[in-house]
Amino acid sequence: MQIVKDGSGHRTEIAEVPDDEIGEGNVTIAVDYSAVNFKDGLGVSGAPGVVQRFPIVAGIDLAGTVVEAAAESGFVPGDPVAVNGWGLAATHNGGFATRARVPAEWITRIPLRFSTWQAMAIGTAGYTAGLSVVALQRHGLTPKGGPIVVAGAAGGVGSVAIAVLAALGYEVHASTGRPAEEAYLRSLGAAEIIARSELSESAQGALGAERWAGGVDSVGSHTLVNVLSQIRYGGVVANCGLAQGLDFPGTVAPFILRGVTLAGIDSVNAPASSRLAAWEVLADHLDEELLEKMTTTVPLDQAATVARRVLAGEVRGRTVVDVNA
Ligand SMILES: NC(=O)c1ccc[n+]([C@@H]2O[C@H](COP(=O)([O-])OP(=O)(O)OC[C@H]3O[C@@H](n4cnc5c(N)ncnc54)[C@H](OP(=O)(O)O)[C@@H]3O)[C@@H](O)[C@H]2O)c1
Repeated sequence: MQIVKDGSGHRTEIAEVPDDEIGEGNVTIAVDYSAVNFKDGLGVSGAPGVVQRFPIVAGIDLAGTVVEAAAESGFVPGDPVAVNGWGLAATHNGGFATRARVPAEWITRIPLRFSTWQAMAIGTAGYTAGLSVVALQRHGLTPKGGPIVVAGAAGGVGSVAIAVLAALGYEVHASTGRPAEEAYLRSLGAAEIIARSELSESAQGALGAERWAGGVDSVGSHTLVNVLSQIRYGGVVANCGLAQGLDFPGTVAPFILRGVTLAGIDSVNAPASSRLAAWEVLADHLDEELLEKMTTTVPLDQAATVARRVLAGEVRGRTVVDVNA
């Protein structure tokens, strides 16, 4: 599925791409599955700065099997692999396709525990949740330190973060704008549910009561500011997203008066060592049944519609795209 921008506007369409145009790289992959992420919503909707060349095959994630690989790539036909981010669907054809060609450096070897479907059920959002959990752990946060708040709880990053943190023994407080998802969030392991409105309004003061030892925030804007203002002394918040907004309308009070750390999370260009650490946390602590529960699978021709719904905050958990359906 391509994103096209021409004289008649910006649109998506299913198209045949000749093999010599699928992409630069030394590894060719038969794609089994892709996934729908928030960034795919931005890309198919024409948000500025996301897609940097047209036409381009959409899809920032892919998982499948190596079919051809240059000797120096380190891969051989039959290897199960995944690609998350890098140039996919930005500068390079992406994963909403049956075949992809990419540089070997972009490829993650899927932990043996996961099938290609599971790798995409996790996808960029889940692997970013993994990066976020690793950031909290590296900062020294342990389950004994106190509860962790997850903002944007019913989304992709939020759902995986809750499941992994709860499995690690943390007490997880889930902030959601969808009260109807309370049972779902509790089934993932959330101990408390917080109304989104408690965090998403403009902050009343620079600091609030010390509520949480840490946070995973994929929302940004007022939500991130309010979370930071209620983090306990010495705590840490991992921020990866901007579902509410790109702005940061806060003060430095949590940093300079409570020694709070704001850990920035980037999945797109994360080095191999960070990716490995995130996938290891997921392999060790993400329950397969919960992953299935939070995931819906759709055929390729529904991917663009779902991407727009993700952007609108209407999709629960994760969506896998079966590119061969
Ligand atoms: N830095 C990176 O490398 C990286 C990687 C992956 C994702 N991200 C970013 O992380 C964010 C979340 O990604 P995702 O895949 O989890 O998306 P998602 O599935 O759409 O989840 C986002 C969640 O945020 C909440 N939300 C939506 N609009 C909101 C608003 N206006 N105010 C407050 N909360 C709102 C909703 O949760 P509730 O319904 O539960 O309230 C929604 O489910 C996106 O901004 C994405 O670009 C960044």
